[in-house]
Amino acid sequence: MMIIRNIYFFVFFFLLFSCEKTKLKTLEPIPAPEEYVLNIPTYYPNKFIPADNPLTKAGVELGRHLFYEKKLSKDNTLSCGSCHFQRLAFTDGLTKSVGINGKIGKRNAMSLTNLVFLNKNFFWDGRANSVEHQAIFPILDSLELNETLENIVQKIRNDSKYTELFKFAFGNSEINSDKIIKAIAQFERSLISINSKYDKYLRSEATFTAQEKLGLLLFTTHPDGNLPSLRGGNCSDCHAGVLQTDNNLRNNGLEFNDNIKDKGLENITGKATDKGKFRVLSLRNIELTAPYMHDGRFSTLEEVLEHYNEHVKFGQNSNADVLMLASNSPGSLPQNLNLSPNEVTAIIAFLKTLTDTEFINNPKFKDPNSH
Ligand code: HEC
Ligand code: HEC
Repeated sequence: MMIIRNIYFFVFFFLLFSCEKTKLKTLEPIPAPEEYVLNIPTYYPNKFIPADNPLTKAGVELGRHLFYEKKLSKDNTLSCGSCHFQRLAFTDGLTKSVGINGKIGKRNAMSLTNLVFLNKNFFWDGRANSVEHQAIFPILDSLELNETLENIVQKIRNDSKYTELFKFAFGNSEINSDKIIKAIAQFERSLISINSKYDKYLRSEATFTAQEKLGLLLFTTHPDGNLPSLRGGNCSDCHAGVLQTDNNLRNNGLEFNDNIKDKGLENITGKATDKGKFRVLSLRNIELTAPYMHDGRFSTLEEVLEHYNEHVKFGQNSNADVLMLASNSPGSLPQNLNLSPNEVTAIIAFLKTLTDTEFINNPKFKDPNSH
C-alpha cells in the first residue's frame, strides 16, 4: 500500500515539475539576486561561503522566513527560532532544549553567532562540517523537529507566500529540499556579531575600564606554576583570537572519565581518548547564553569560573586537555588556576564586553511574522 502511494506521489511530482518547467520558459527573466554584503572588520578571520551557495539579499530573506517557519516541524508547532531566540543570541535559556511534544533533548542549545567563520566541527561534538550539512539534523531529529524533508517540501509548496520568495532567491519558483537548506544556511551565515564593546575597543571606538583590561590580560595569559607572580586564566589557549575559539574539540575537565555521561566526540570517532571532548565555543554574547556547557550544568559565569579556578578534574582518570591549566614549564603538573576573587571578577567583566546589543536587536534577524 505504502509503495503504491509513493509511486503516486512520484508521478504527481514528476507531472508538477514538468508543467512548471514549460510554464517557466514563457516567464520574464528574473534579475540575478543581489549580493548580501557582510561588512566584516579586517581583524576577523577569513569567512567561508561555498561557491554553490553565495549570500544574496533574497536568499538570506528566504532563509529568515524558513528559519522561523513552523511548518518545518511534524506538528507545525516549532521552528528553528523556537530553540534559538535572537534576544538570547540564538539560544533558548534552557538547560536542555525541548523539541516537539515536549520531548527533552540531549544537549544545551548553541548560540548561532559568527558561523560564517567556521567550516568544520558544527555541534557540540563536531559532527557536521557545514551549516548546510548541519541544518538537516534538527529537522530529522525525533527530539527536535521530527519531520521529513519530503513533507516539508510539500508543506512549503502549498504555501503561496513562498512562490515569490523562492523565485527571487534562486531564479525560479521550484521548491526543493536543497534550496530550503541552502537558504537557511545563508540566513545563518548572515548572523554576524561585530559590534560588542570588545570590538569597539579593538577599533579604538571605546575604552576598557581598568577591571576589563585586567580581565583581558588574565584571559590571555598562561600561568606558570614556577612563577607565582605570572597570573593567568589561560582561557585564550583554547578560546583563541577575536572569536574566542580555536574551533577544536577538547576536554575542559568537567568530569573524571568514569563519570562522563555524554561521551561527546567519542560518540563520533569511537576512540576512548575522545571521551568528553566538546567544541571549544566562541564566547561572543556569553552573558546572554546561560546556562553553560553542553549539558547546561552551570547557570552563571561565576559558576563557570569557579570550575576553571577550583574544580578541574585532571590526572589519570581524566582526558583534560594538555592546554588545561598545565604550566608552561617542562615537567610541571596541571593545576587549578587559584585566581583571587578580584581576578575572577575581572575575567567576568571582560567576558561581558563581548555582549553585542546591536546583534540581538538587529531587525534583519527578527521573525518576519512578528511585529
Ligand atoms: C528543539 C530545539 C532546537 C530546534 C528546533 C533547533 N535547534 Fe539548533 N540546536 C539545538 C541544540 C540542542 C543544539 C546542540 C545540539 C548538539 O550539539 O547535539 C543546536 C545546534 C545548532 C547549530 C550548531 C551551532 C554550532 O556552532 O555548531 C546550528 C547551526 C543550529 N542548531 C541551527 C538550527 C537550525 C537551522 C534549525 C532549524 C532547521 C534548528 N537549529 C532547530 C536546539 C534546536
Ligand atoms: C583546554 C581548553 C580550554 C580552556 C583553557 C578554557 N576553556 Fe572554556 N571551554 C572549553 C570547552 C571544550 C568548552 C565546552 C565544554 C563542554 O561543554 O563540555 C568550554 C566552555 C566554556 C564556556 C561555556 C560556553 C557555553 O556557551 O556554554 C565558558 C563561559 C568558558 N568555556 C569560559 C572559559 C574561561 C573564562 C576560561 C579561562 C578561565 C576557559 N574557558 C578556559 C575549552 C577551554
